[in-house]
Amino acid sequence: MGAIRNIVILTGAGVSAESGIATFRGPGGLWEGHRVEDVCTPEALARDPALVHRFYDLRRAALRDVRPNAAHTALARLDREWTGDLLIVTQNVDDLHERAGAERLVHMHGELQSALCAACGVRERWTDALPPETECPNCGTFALRPDIVFFGEMPYHMDRIEAALAAADLFVSIGTSGAVYPAAGFVQMADAYGADTLELNLERSAGSGFFARSELGAAGELVPAWVDTVLAAQSTQSSPMSR
Ligand code: APR
Repeated sequence: MGAIRNIVILTGAGVSAESGIATFRGPGGLWEGHRVEDVCTPEALARDPALVHRFYDLRRAALRDVRPNAAHTALARLDREWTGDLLIVTQNVDDLHERAGAERLVHMHGELQSALCAACGVRERWTDALPPETECPNCGTFALRPDIVFFGEMPYHMDRIEAALAAADLFVSIGTSGAVYPAAGFVQMADAYGADTLELNLERSAGSGFFARSELGAAGELVPAWVDTVLAAQSTQSSPMSR
């Protein structure tokens, strides 16, 4: 592997699993209690706003009972110590990456602790319940909704993500099933731009075949070990001895 300077990391529900947050498609997965179409589409929000708001209220409230795990902590350390470019692109809507200290981070599917006004487009930090018909503090209409990207809506930060993939030397996917696009297609974009690609996941995913390497195991074990390796290589890459 040539010298690595620019890294893009994609995380999915698997990175938060060991913190006690249910994944979507595993046993006991979040979608098992609901049909996706009933809670995560614009149509569902229009048809039954109380159900959709309550679904996200419960997930937002559950954030108080969970903590970042070793994978979040290791990625935050990488963010602090990596001197090249780094972007953590999370599909997750929890705040565990932030609470672990990550800063070079974007939430492409939105955030539980944010409310979006469907009328004026302003976002408000929101940590409590968000009932339907809540008044927007900015424009006064009663159009606040969960700031979650529903199926059929455009994910956030795509320009920044695509620019980072184009410049990446290494793309790492952690804890995602590779079931949902555009995130599932990032590995092919990174590969097409010449980046090395690595998957860290509990089991083979729908995208495993697109990665140069896949390591199977729990994120809480694989991610700290991988971060140690990358930071050790950085210190040898930059030390004068290695000139
Ligand atoms: N360590 C690593 N990987 C794990 C762990 C773990 N401890 N536990 C589960 N996994 C893996 C599973 O094997 C699975 O491949 O994490 C992946 C979780 O897949 P999904 O439940 O499909 O979650 P995700 O890939 O993040 O879903 C993508 O789908 O429903 C939408 O918007 C939602 O962001 C979500 C998107």
